Amino acid sequence: MSLLLSGVDMLSSSPVQPAKVASCGDEDHTTKNSRAARFRERFVRSRERFGPPGYRELRVMDLDHRPNQQLVDYYSALELVLCDATRARFGEYRTHFGPAQSEPPSDYCWLSTSVDPGNHLAGADFISTAFRALEDKLATDLDHEPPRRILDVGCGAGGTMRTWLERWPECTVTGININEHQLASATELLAPYGERAQLIRGNFFDTPLPAKHFDFIYFVESAFHMPDKEAVLRAVMHSLAPGGRVRFVDVFLSERAAEMAKRKKSVGGTREGDSIFSYETRDLWLETARGQGLRHDYWNEFGKQVARFLHIGLSWEEMQERYVRPRLGRHARRAEFTQSLHNLYTGYKRLQRLLRAGALEYATLGFRR
Ligand SMILES: C[S@@+](CC[C@H](N)C(=O)[O-])C[C@H]1O[C@@H](n2cnc3c(N)ncnc32)[C@H](O)[C@@H]1O
Repeated sequence: MSLLLSGVDMLSSSPVQPAKVASCGDEDHTTKNSRAARFRERFVRSRERFGPPGYRELRVMDLDHRPNQQLVDYYSALELVLCDATRARFGEYRTHFGPAQSEPPSDYCWLSTSVDPGNHLAGADFISTAFRALEDKLATDLDHEPPRRILDVGCGAGGTMRTWLERWPECTVTGININEHQLASATELLAPYGERAQLIRGNFFDTPLPAKHFDFIYFVESAFHMPDKEAVLRAVMHSLAPGGRVRFVDVFLSERAAEMAKRKKSVGGTREGDSIFSYETRDLWLETARGQGLRHDYWNEFGKQVARFLHIGLSWEEMQERYVRPRLGRHARRAEFTQSLHNLYTGYKRLQRLLRAGALEYATLGFRR
């Protein structure tokens, strides 16, 4: 597994620098026992084991070239609290939602299941089935003409990349992510696939990707972190091969909610001051994509199924008592950590409410070049 770009020259002419694990907002808690430190060690170890020193530090910057530390912290908190547990027990490398395929188990709570899957086996099974279903929806119509050069933008911990590497034996997959904790997990997960899997740590917008190269580019719940959809589609157009396909698994604003947002500025991710989430309507996406020369070829909405998946049966106090406080001892930046989790908790509650009400849509949107 090459952690980043065996063919670095294919991507950029800038010099390849030796590996360096950059700080990701939690540089204070590097004590031996902290989970963050363990992730970091694992990252370095796995890179030594599998990767040539071709790992290049790409800047972690947002669109305005300011670091979006809030976004990085958000996924680091998620990684430490939610994903580590499910991964250890079930090998699930996901930080996305899924369309529930049935009614959930009676005691189902998405957060408790993710944090403590060993005590919520039926829930964990329910979640795994939903993850698989999401990938099937993403890959609809692709199996008859399997893509060979794939780009995963915002690849998280690499779980979806692994699915394609298994499903389409001829393909290679490149993943980009700004979060080093998730990349540490992805490095381990994808090691068995050797050169077929490549990882880049960096911001999609700052990464010099090859022109007209990939025949399938996809975003699973990452485009909603990118406020400028035109910039997203422009960057896609740069790297998408002629005839290539692009798909977004994302949250979309319903037309009705967009009207409300115009009046009140307070719907979902469009809330003022929310620098992490940014939802837009399908129509805005279609118009922007048309402007870039992309042909719309796919739409599948399944928000109600995702709302079922997102069920949270705990109050914030219960959540804190059971899952946050016991972990605080290991954190030097307790206030930030708790705040990140509180944002996560309230954000998911709101998202579920808005999906149920149809104010937000959860869908796969696709285009062809
Ligand atoms: C909800 S997670 C989804 C992760 C992964 N796609 C999955 O399905 O498990 C969103 C991911 O997008 C990444 N991300 C957000 N903005 C990014 C950007 N500008 N460039 C690269 N990655 C980004 C985050 O770090 C995070 O890993």
